[in-house]
Amino acid sequence: MRSSAPGSATPERCSGKQRVVPGGAPRYAFAPLDGKVHDRAAFSCGVPSLDAYLEKRAAQDMRKRVAVTHVLTPAGSAGEILGYYTLSVASVALDELPEELRRKLPDYPQIGAILLGRLAVDTRHRGQGLGELLLISALERSLELSATQLGAYAVVVDALEGAEGFYQRYGFMPFQDQVRRLYLPMRAVVELLT
Ligand SMILES: CC(C)(COP(=O)(O)OP(=O)(O)OC[C@H]1O[C@@H](n2cnc3c(N)ncnc32)[C@H](O)[C@@H]1OP(=O)(O)O)[C@@H](O)C(=O)NCCC(=O)NCCS
Repeated sequence: MRSSAPGSATPERCSGKQRVVPGGAPRYAFAPLDGKVHDRAAFSCGVPSLDAYLEKRAAQDMRKRVAVTHVLTPAGSAGEILGYYTLSVASVALDELPEELRRKLPDYPQIGAILLGRLAVDTRHRGQGLGELLLISALERSLELSATQLGAYAVVVDALEGAEGFYQRYGFMPFQDQVRRLYLPMRAVVELLT
């Protein structure tokens, strides 16, 4: 996988799939959700709770510093939301990690992580690589934060039923006894993005 600049993205066709490449004229842009600019009501991903979150709660959560929502829009149409994801801080109990990872970590009961709480693509734009584009953006942002701003050992996701496979194909692993809560250590994020 190749990474893109965090604020903009250009997909290319590769074996019939769209992939993100650096450079070129950006076709898409990322921005923090802005209720005055982005048309939240028009977004529909087929999962009512994710649509309702974006329309009714995401802006409030941003004001309260609970989670930040990043939206993906076409480069020339800033109001249209093609997809979104949310980031917030989280912690992971050390005993939830496998022994071989735990051994290399300091002996704290909990360690810091970044929670990719929600991620969704509008149903009209599925299967074009936008889910991957959103995930790459979330991972790049998390990596950047964890390098200099905010200690975070891993990115954690709470996958909806049926979406575990989406994350697993990028290396996310389930926590012990929790099939839908998955994590990707930051060092694996580095490998994935380079
Ligand atoms: C899951 C979701 C984000 C995927 O978006 P998308 O734009 O269709 O995905 P992409 O086109 O970027 O697909 C990237 C790869 O993931 C695969 N993929 C997509 N959805 C998948 C799923 N549910 N399970 C396993 N693999 C999946 C694709 O086949 C593709 O693989 P390929 O390149 O080998 O063909 C989208 O279906 C969605 O918004 N679903 C509803 C909300 C949801 O489930 N969110 C995730 C959990 S919070």
